[in-house]
Amino acid sequence: MSGRIVVTGAFSYIGAAVAEECLRRGFAVHTLTNRRPPEGTKITSAPLRFDAERLAEQLSGAYAFINTYWVRFPWAGLGFDTAVRNSAALLSAAARARVGRLVHVSVSNASDAPDLGYYAGKAAVERKVRDSGLSCAIVRPTLVVGPGDVLTNNIAWLLRKFPLFLLPGRGACSLQPVTLSDAARLIVDAALRVENLEVDAAGPEVFTFAEFVRAVASACGAHRIILPAPEPLVLGALELLNRPLRDIVLTREELIGLQRGLLLSKKAPLGRESVSEWLVVNGPKLGLEYVNDLDRHFGAGAGSPIASAPPG
Ligand SMILES: NC(=O)c1ccc[n+]([C@@H]2O[C@H](COP(=O)([O-])OP(=O)(O)OC[C@H]3O[C@@H](n4cnc5c(N)ncnc54)[C@H](OP(=O)(O)O)[C@@H]3O)[C@@H](O)[C@H]2O)c1
Repeated sequence: MSGRIVVTGAFSYIGAAVAEECLRRGFAVHTLTNRRPPEGTKITSAPLRFDAERLAEQLSGAYAFINTYWVRFPWAGLGFDTAVRNSAALLSAAARARVGRLVHVSVSNASDAPDLGYYAGKAAVERKVRDSGLSCAIVRPTLVVGPGDVLTNNIAWLLRKFPLFLLPGRGACSLQPVTLSDAARLIVDAALRVENLEVDAAGPEVFTFAEFVRAVASACGAHRIILPAPEPLVLGALELLNRPLRDIVLTREELIGLQRGLLLSKKAPLGRESVSEWLVVNGPKLGLEYVNDLDRHFGAGAGSPIASAPPG
């Protein structure tokens, strides 16, 4: 295969794995990002600014455009409404540039939680993707587990740091995480198809949240007391951590999404790799450092490639 694929965020998390997979399959990769390129990268880049005309120039002639752009939580005046508008600018630029294929990275069960801003915004963008008139795919990951993953790493960090881990409810809600490399493979596979397509990126294993936390604890050798606790107590404890960490460890919406089973796919899993095995292999490195997502996007880390981004 050859040609040029434009990917947002090739020096961030999922975008980096997607870019690496595109390079591995013989494509040239151009990225839209506000991070500086890692030294020696083969990936060309331009700033991610939401000006449809400039974006269309960047996308012109692309075999495919893979869009990973989104915000995890509202911050510094950048809310989900802005993220929907910015996504619309990206999609209209892709249509103007007549890219050969549009792959949009959404989230599992995007349409099932209209009361949650993250999901409502994702569902609104999915509708715009369907209306784009382009050959398109929507790929919906559950929880993507890999090097640089904020949530799994920070569960490990909490387990290493504190003697007690509070499980919201009884930790009985289910989730179906997928490895980063499986997610990247499914996203790039979707770019190479021609028909319109909507798939989940979910792994072969379903965990209860309690099982997932225990698997992380065992993988990183942190044998702690894992206690069920009412949701308000968990949220209160997280709030207490946010201040000294200068971050948002987990949002209320993320907790609700987890408890409603939104990180679970209703379809047969397309992911092949075992997340349990990934945890066992990578556990010794997990949670050694806290990953500060706020710093990554709004603080001193905002312009740098994230640690796990491959050089390409
Ligand atoms: N990680 C998961 O477990 C997971 C699960 C389900 C769905 N998803 C979805 O997968 C996609 C990629 O997620 P990710 O985890 O790879 O996130 P990420 O590392 O934060 O990257 C997302 C992309 O959005 C951009 N972005 C994020 N916050 C921004 C901000 N405040 N201002 C401007 N640009 C911003 C990043 O820009 P830069 O290139 O400048 O960093 C990057 O291009 C998102 O749509 C996310 O909702 C992720």
